[in-house]
Amino acid sequence: MNSTLSVAVLSGKGGVGKTNISLNLACALYQAGFKNLLMDCDMGLANLDVLLGITPEGNVQDALLGEARLSDVLYPLEPNGFDVLPAASGVPELNDLSPDLRDLLLQRLEPLLGKYDFIFMDLGAGISETVQTFAAMAAIRIVIITPEPTSLTDSYALVKLLNNRFGIRDFMVLVNQAASAREAQSAFEKLNGACRHFLGLEPVLLGHVRTDKKLTEAVCRQQPLLRYAPSSPAAQDIQALGARLQRTRMGMLDWLVTRSVLQALPR
Ligand SMILES: Nc1ncnc2c1ncn2[C@@H]1O[C@H](COP(=O)(O)OP(=O)(O)OP(=O)(O)O)[C@@H](O)[C@H]1O
Ligand SMILES: [Mg+2]
Repeated sequence: MNSTLSVAVLSGKGGVGKTNISLNLACALYQAGFKNLLMDCDMGLANLDVLLGITPEGNVQDALLGEARLSDVLYPLEPNGFDVLPAASGVPELNDLSPDLRDLLLQRLEPLLGKYDFIFMDLGAGISETVQTFAAMAAIRIVIITPEPTSLTDSYALVKLLNNRFGIRDFMVLVNQAASAREAQSAFEKLNGACRHFLGLEPVLLGHVRTDKKLTEAVCRQQPLLRYAPSSPAAQDIQALGARLQRTRMGMLDWLVTRSVLQALPR
């Protein structure tokens, strides 16, 4: 039976921390004993491999457009249940996924997914077809925002698009690069207010991650923050978010068994 929670990590504006937060959330859950798959779904400008300092032999492009099998291009980051699915950069077919390719990807991916507890999909910024598709197929969506006004307006545009096109009403919001819990709450309230007023839906605040120079250092050293500086403020925040996601998954188990890990979309 399927108990895999698929999580799409998205943002309207670029550079807000999607890749770092996906990676470190997956690290936190791995350390807590869960099996994770981290998918680089930024098929325009893949960079998870750079962040990790790894050189995978194949990527999702080879498995979709070439001869490789998906199971062969999975990169085992940790031997006991932390795999990475690397993406290719600069492949237009994958950046704007057609329904045919999307269905092919789903068909090949789905049999591999059941063994994981969590799947994190690190999406590209913005509203490409690929972003929309993965966001709609996932069981839950985490929209990453920062307290900057441009991040708020771009996230609202993304939520509105996903709501209009797919009828999605449930969004979790994670405020990154916040100075304090209060600043995070105030950024969340602004987005929540607009969503409530104009779309009649209310996102849920998952939590926040503080601005932390250790995170920038970890990026430069090509190491996950949780390994490089596990007791830094941002690492502690991410641990707390990981614990919340565990509870979220527990609360959803009855529903997860009734659906595919990634929900097929109408063509
Ligand atoms: N909490 C934080 N504290 C300090 N710096 C941060 C924090 N979060 C992100 N950053 C900075 O922002 C940069 C971009 O982060 P990241 O690559 O994770 O963003 P992204 O949303 O995945 O970007 P893109 O949209 O290009 O995929 C990091 O390299 C880091 O320097
Ligand atoms: Mg990224």
